[in-house]
Amino acid sequence: MSASIIDGKAYAAGLRARITDAVGDMAQQGATPGLAVVIVGEDPASQIYVKNKARQTVEVGMRSFEHVLPASTSEAELLSLVAGLNADPAVDGILVQLPLPRQIDAQKVIEAIDPAKDVDGFHPINAGKLMTGVPGLVSCTPLGCLLLIQSVQRDLAGLNAVVLGRSNIVGKPMAQLLIGQSCTVTVAHSKTRDLPEVCREADILVAAVGRPEMVRGDWIKRGAIVVDVGINRVPNPSSGEGKTRVVGDVAYAEASAVASAITPVPGGVGPMTIACLLRNTLEAACLRRS
Ligand code: GUN
Repeated sequence: MSASIIDGKAYAAGLRARITDAVGDMAQQGATPGLAVVIVGEDPASQIYVKNKARQTVEVGMRSFEHVLPASTSEAELLSLVAGLNADPAVDGILVQLPLPRQIDAQKVIEAIDPAKDVDGFHPINAGKLMTGVPGLVSCTPLGCLLLIQSVQRDLAGLNAVVLGRSNIVGKPMAQLLIGQSCTVTVAHSKTRDLPEVCREADILVAAVGRPEMVRGDWIKRGAIVVDVGINRVPNPSSGEGKTRVVGDVAYAEASAVASAITPVPGGVGPMTIACLLRNTLEAACLRRS
């Protein structure tokens, strides 16, 4: 078997096109949605993410408010900015890029964001809504994963799902989303005993551990749907001294010989995260105006 490739880039482009149409309708009524993105410090990876977010926000017709703060910013200063954004009627969504410098308690900042503007879905109110099956804003990467899974199989009821990784940003909300789809969900992590055997039970396997190509082909059940959240940069000596390439948490060639469908890295889950952020911003804007 050779797995079909789940094209996240194409899916995300389609989602952005639908968002663009909806934003156009809102703009005609003078209600253009706005997304504020806050970055503290000069982490190069964060700077790239934030630039991409701002560009795509403008491309779908929304207003983008970028706040670039120095690494020396105090917690009080950041909390004060967040309070201002909470009160600003032009701002429908607020995203504070993580990680934050060590003098700032990230959890305190997350909890300071108005849950109605929490387009990351990280606020405990939104996490709690997801857990209890109440509509709310859902963390973007897991939401993107679910949309990709459902692009190959709409009804997931009764399937065994294994989520590798238990982070608040991906693993835990992913598990909750799959429970919401009536899957039987196992959350596996670094302390799980016999990880390969646990993975072999999975009809749906979501890998979000940040370990390059950890999941091997013989960990995968024949016909499974495999979603690879990993974005790992590894040395690539074959293309020259000091060169790198990006790989996922799954050994792609091995896995695609066994799975029925698989997300590539890059071009799978990655493009979905920002598309879902825009979707959440649109949703937040619609709810705030209703
Ligand atoms: N840093 C890496 N991924 C994310 C994300 O999805 N949201 C925020 N706020 N920070 C991140």
